[in-house]
Amino acid sequence: MDNNREKLMTIQEASEWASVYLDREVTTSNISYLIQYGRIRKMENNGNTQVSKMDLIKYYESYLGKREISWKKQLGNDLNWGLSFDHLREADTTKHVHRLHPYKGKFIPQLVEYFLDDHIDDYKGEVYFDRGDIVLDPFCGSGTTLVQANELGIHAIGIDISEFNTFISNAKIGRYDIQDIRYETNRILKVLNEMAKSSNIIKFEDELSTLLSEFNNKYFPSPEYKRRVRNKEIDGKKYGEEKEKEFLSIYYGLIDKYGIKLKQDSDKTFLDKWYIKNVRQEIDMAFDLIRNIENIQTKKISSSNSK
Ligand SMILES: C[S@@+](CC[C@H](N)C(=O)[O-])C[C@H]1O[C@@H](n2cnc3c(N)ncnc32)[C@H](O)[C@@H]1O
Repeated sequence: MDNNREKLMTIQEASEWASVYLDREVTTSNISYLIQYGRIRKMENNGNTQVSKMDLIKYYESYLGKREISWKKQLGNDLNWGLSFDHLREADTTKHVHRLHPYKGKFIPQLVEYFLDDHIDDYKGEVYFDRGDIVLDPFCGSGTTLVQANELGIHAIGIDISEFNTFISNAKIGRYDIQDIRYETNRILKVLNEMAKSSNIIKFEDELSTLLSEFNNKYFPSPEYKRRVRNKEIDGKKYGEEKEKEFLSIYYGLIDKYGIKLKQDSDKTFLDKWYIKNVRQEIDMAFDLIRNIENIQTKKISSSNSK
């Protein structure tokens, strides 16, 4: 009998086993993700979650190598699979400032590094940039090229048609005074804490999230619920609508209990109309903080100009 078929592992054991099996780091949250999305079964043993080694092997075998083979078919043997950086974790591809905004269209920084740095290999036969050179990225998006060039001592110019993307790029490459940042961060935290203390919103959100998770565990247990919908034992749409109505009465009960104001007195602007009072207050606070930071910067620039 196949040993693997019987072998059950805790999530921690599964992450350690899979890291060796795949020869790359597989975290416990990677394993939990597979359970959550119904890719592998969730087993219970004395209240502990376990997974089957066989399920994991089946899942990884169905995935492993398939992407490479399929791209090779489309692009031929010129394909340098190493440059897919398929082995990297999300934490590596969003390292340091690349996590500041979850910009979905960005390059993998390691890919940019590969072309900017001074190594050569079978595929990259020459070095394209030296320290002090200037690289131009005319579609710089969230600024990956600019940041990586900066790291390697290469100057960089970025252009982008989207103002928001240039804002992200500038935030990632700007020079900051650490004292200012510390001061502003503390001030923001203080204002946020005071705001949180003076409102019921945190207690409301805590109780809402507890009740919601109890409700979901009872009526939408994962992954059994997904499997039952897939097997057509449950009509997901009808069942979902019934349960939504049921939960709404719990939700409105909490709104009353904590005195949460859902509608603004005015509905003149988009923000007035669509945001509850507490969120509206947070947005106003964010604008106040930004205005304050801009004032400090303007004062600094004019005082350094007058020197
Ligand atoms: C795929 S994104 C580039 C992402 C970038 N490599 C990064 O790592 O964040 C393409 C960018 O091209 C910009 N773009 C599109 N048309 C443009 C144009 N005519 N002039 C300048 N930028 C343009 C878009 O706004 C978008 O930010």
